[in-house]
Amino acid sequence: MDEKDICILKKLYENEYISGEELASLLHVSRMAINKRIKSLRALGYRIESAKKKGYMLVDKDVIRIWEIEGYIQSSNLFKEFIYLNEVDSTNAYVKQNQQYLPNATVVYAERQTQGRGRFSRRWVDLDKGIKMSILLKLLLLDLEKIVPFTLFTGLVINRVLRKHGVESFIKWSNDIYLNGKKVCGILSELSGEVEGFGSIIIGIGINVNAKSVPEEIKDIATTLKAETLHDFDRTRLIIDILKEFERELSNFEKYGFSYFRDEYKSFCINLGKEILVNGERMLCKDIGKNGELVCEKDGKIVEISSGEVTIRF
Ligand code: BTN
Repeated sequence: MDEKDICILKKLYENEYISGEELASLLHVSRMAINKRIKSLRALGYRIESAKKKGYMLVDKDVIRIWEIEGYIQSSNLFKEFIYLNEVDSTNAYVKQNQQYLPNATVVYAERQTQGRGRFSRRWVDLDKGIKMSILLKLLLLDLEKIVPFTLFTGLVINRVLRKHGVESFIKWSNDIYLNGKKVCGILSELSGEVEGFGSIIIGIGINVNAKSVPEEIKDIATTLKAETLHDFDRTRLIIDILKEFERELSNFEKYGFSYFRDEYKSFCINLGKEILVNGERMLCKDIGKNGELVCEKDGKIVEISSGEVTIRF
């Protein structure tokens, strides 16, 4: 999609109907060129109908308002570029492959992922009308110890934004967001470059937003915001709010580390006080440490966990 397509989409979004002539004169192109562009927008999945004497109408307005996100990115002191893709294998993979050409603090968003990646080499099931995006942060002094707190920080930011949007979400260590006992958001942080040297971190965020339901294969463990609250969410607003909150709090994270956010994290963490399985081993979750590690008790001894798969025995 180029700037002209985005402009057509914006006009369709803002008007109930808009004629081909009007679009053609706005964009300084021929009526035929508009026809062609409408066709290709339809092929990308946009539901555009046309009515005689009235013009074109965008039937389903649950679309990402690229122009608004671009507007925010332009005003941001952190984020430098926003890339909107209709379909990609994985936004994390896209960022990894292209990182040398992408500026620091690029955000890549995809409407569809054909090979979405989850943690522990799992697949991230692609749901319609969700949020799938990756943030590239470059030139970080890669310190493995900071990665866990960093992903926890991202989870906290998303939880905070969802709550501002009226969602009663919680965090499952390390950075899954849960609603009514099921997962609505996952984060996959990947490092690339030299360890202990300059490199980058790619933070992949997947949120199940406006799909009515999830496929049978994940219905016991995952859900969507819409399925739980019975209403639609403004995905563009969510994306902008997440990026804004991330930007706003990043300096606090850099200055004070995870400990600045620890109390808030703990107040929403559903693992605390529960019996959990960490990589299959049964433990009691006692606390979240200063750097975000899981503090557990196992056979009367305290153990600290900084990575691994955690299952809660509700
Ligand atoms: C998890 O397993 O909980 C993490 C899921 C992360 C999914 C997101 S969607 C956008 C980004 N691109 C990917 O391929 N994965 C992440």
